[in-house]
Amino acid sequence: MARVQVVILAAGKGTRMRSAQPKVLQLLAGKPLLHHVLHTAQQVADQEPVHLVVGHGAELLQASLGSVPGLVFHYQEPQRGTGDALRCALPGLAKEGRVLVLYGDVPLLQAQTLQAFLQHVPDDCVGLCSGELPDPSGYGRILRQEDGTVAGIQEERDCSPREREIREVNLGILVLPANRLENWLGALAPNNSQGEYYLTDLVSLAAQDGIKTIAYRLADPREALGVNDAEQLSQAERLLQARQIRTLQQAGLRCADPARVDLRGSLEFGPDCYLEPNVILEGRIELGARVRIGAGAILRDACIGNDVEILPYSLLEGCKIDHGARIGPFARIRPGSEIGANAHVGNFVETKKLRLGAGSKANHLSYLGDAEIGAQVNIGAGVITCNYDGVEKHKTEIGDGVFVGSDTQLVAPVRVGAGATIGAGSTITRDVPAGGLTLSRSPQKSIPHWHGPRQANKG
Ligand code: UD1
Ligand code: CA
Repeated sequence: MARVQVVILAAGKGTRMRSAQPKVLQLLAGKPLLHHVLHTAQQVADQEPVHLVVGHGAELLQASLGSVPGLVFHYQEPQRGTGDALRCALPGLAKEGRVLVLYGDVPLLQAQTLQAFLQHVPDDCVGLCSGELPDPSGYGRILRQEDGTVAGIQEERDCSPREREIREVNLGILVLPANRLENWLGALAPNNSQGEYYLTDLVSLAAQDGIKTIAYRLADPREALGVNDAEQLSQAERLLQARQIRTLQQAGLRCADPARVDLRGSLEFGPDCYLEPNVILEGRIELGARVRIGAGAILRDACIGNDVEILPYSLLEGCKIDHGARIGPFARIRPGSEIGANAHVGNFVETKKLRLGAGSKANHLSYLGDAEIGAQVNIGAGVITCNYDGVEKHKTEIGDGVFVGSDTQLVAPVRVGAGATIGAGSTITRDVPAGGLTLSRSPQKSIPHWHGPRQANKG
């Protein structure tokens, strides 16, 4: 097979999306559309650079691609159609081998499909991917001669009513002999309803030159779904989520309902993990063995040890949870938190930059921020680390085996020695010695025969 140079067209505005963001930067499974296409393109391009045609929002696109190596950018300004876009990349392309053109808004395409397509089309022919979609609207229709040869592509807006009935559509993937491009692209004319230079017109130009076009029918044309508007974006999202969860299930992940798990990043997991409905996993997620994640839990960049149980509606971000720990329900674990083995963090507890030792428990209604808490510590209900003085954050350190009574405020910076007990309702402003009982409480008073003001007035 001849050398393949890959070009991705991504200069369009994406008017139909009605978004302030360039279309190819819309997120699909947490990643811009363009990044999905690029990932596939790089697998096909092998060691060759990938050519990207950018225009609308070019700076944003380039910023989003940051340090991705092996990219060559071409600029299209103004954007006068897909044919014009490819022409902008011409100066950077060698005139040998083939050029594979991909659209930045066709994100579900897989490398093995493209490989099979490239194998199928002889080097000196034009090739395109086609398919029959239940709803072909918006796609170019494939025109064939009596004998079945592909004669051209007609964009929907330019279709006659009869052509519009054609169900076989152009899925937007084209491979062309590189040495013909300059001639064909130079011959394009914007004589269509949009006044644009259509890449798809190359097919009829090729036919005029006696070059055959091979239409490769995709087994599942949904793989080449084009994302032009919000509805198609959500369709692509569901298709991709279904594909991801299928792969995860094949690898042994169990879940109550595969349609109600969303993965927007990468997931690694050990044996016998189980996800209840409506779990959202974002960023980089690692699960050990036998992790159970309850309904509605959201995890973002989290590393979860063996036998951890995350109870419903908890939000965990940028954290590490050691084996056997139990989190939630309704817990909020914020970045920089490390929850020790077999520790419990219960309902309505918020943690931030917390190191909680093994076997420690904070079961109810607490804020624990910028704190280092030892092993086997009991944090009572309503305990608050007052870490912020309005200007700076301060640290709370609590030794092993401490018992912090309910509704205690620890005004940081403050240290509590190992084995100390702090009486409920205390406001701790100075370091607490190890062992013994420390409490700060105004003495309790009882006033007998006391009547409230209203009762007094009534006599
Ligand atoms: C295109 C095809 C259509 C096909 C469909 C498949 C053409 C003329 N039509 O239509 O036959 O069925 O895709 O999804 O090619 N772009 C540029 N510069 C431009 C215009 C577009 O780089 O001047 C880029 C866009 O950013 C986008 C891609 O080319 O990534 C496709 O453009 P779009 O306007 O979405 O084409 P469709 O109308 O979907
Ligand atoms: Ca499109």
